Amino acid sequence: MPARWLEVAVETDAEVADAVAELFARFGYQQGAAVFHPVAQDPDGENATIDPATPVLIATYLPLDEQVDATVERLRHGLWHLSQLGRIGELRLRTLAEEEWAEAWKSHFPVTRIGHRIVIRPSWIPYESRDDEIVVHLDPGMAFGTGLHPTTQHCLLWLERLVTPGMSVLDAGAGSGILSIAALALGARSVTAWEIDPVAGEVLRENLERNGVADRATVRIGDVTEDLTDREAYDLVVANIVARVLIEAGPRLVRAARPGAHLVLSGIIDTAEEGVRRRYHDLGTELVERRQDGDWVSLLLRRNRP
Ligand SMILES: C[S@@+](CC[C@H](N)C(=O)[O-])C[C@H]1O[C@@H](n2cnc3c(N)ncnc32)[C@H](O)[C@@H]1O
Repeated sequence: MPARWLEVAVETDAEVADAVAELFARFGYQQGAAVFHPVAQDPDGENATIDPATPVLIATYLPLDEQVDATVERLRHGLWHLSQLGRIGELRLRTLAEEEWAEAWKSHFPVTRIGHRIVIRPSWIPYESRDDEIVVHLDPGMAFGTGLHPTTQHCLLWLERLVTPGMSVLDAGAGSGILSIAALALGARSVTAWEIDPVAGEVLRENLERNGVADRATVRIGDVTEDLTDREAYDLVVANIVARVLIEAGPRLVRAARPGAHLVLSGIIDTAEEGVRRRYHDLGTELVERRQDGDWVSLLLRRNRP
């Protein structure tokens, strides 16, 4: 692993953020790029939306080696082209030592309040909670799910409204475990969390332990499109994955919801929404509500009763 790193960061308008993130991911270490969406919340706490007035921050990390200057030049060149489509700020460069690099992304992860009661607290920031708050202690490590992404926020807003004491919940594509932990903290009796990536699965287990809810959670490492064959019918199903997986896993996810139960589907890019809706309609669910932030769409469905 390289001893020194270059952090490359830029602020952009929302409409070019995805294209810039793709460019950064093409050159960044392990094709990684971090995207930090500004979030605004309505005073009533119901709606967390991307704040279009505040720029999106995009960052990636390059090993500081003999190719780094050429890579930065390529990035600048790509950014110049994209700046014809939307506003892109100055490219910011910062050299980091190995230890700093491992910690660097944390500086972009604040305590985040979502909905009326949910607070996502990075494990390294002290936080004094109010009585009625549900605090999720999180260290996302290499797993997806900091609570900052709009797809996660949509799910949390619905969980806050739908989880009632004693419920059983299926969390498909659990990542850091943020949704599982929130559901249990909101009173769910049990959660089954599926995750395909074993590395994320480790982070998931650690986060369940950290929040003192591991005894009410079952972790399954596997692919929900093939391996999800649970007999149990859950009171609530939440799946924040990509549209392709939601479509493929459709029959299994619908079967996993008891008749009359809600399914929260998230991670759907708007161009794929129609396909997901048609598929789930054909599988015997009805649309109850939808949320959209930028390109991201989430659907709240209910499984029809026989
Ligand atoms: C967008 S992240 C969501 C993480 C978290 N639930 C949240 O809401 O922030 C999707 C997660 O689903 C996992 N995943 C992708 N395809 C999967 C599949 N076929 N079966 C199970 N998990 C999958 C990914 O590894 C990733 O951790």
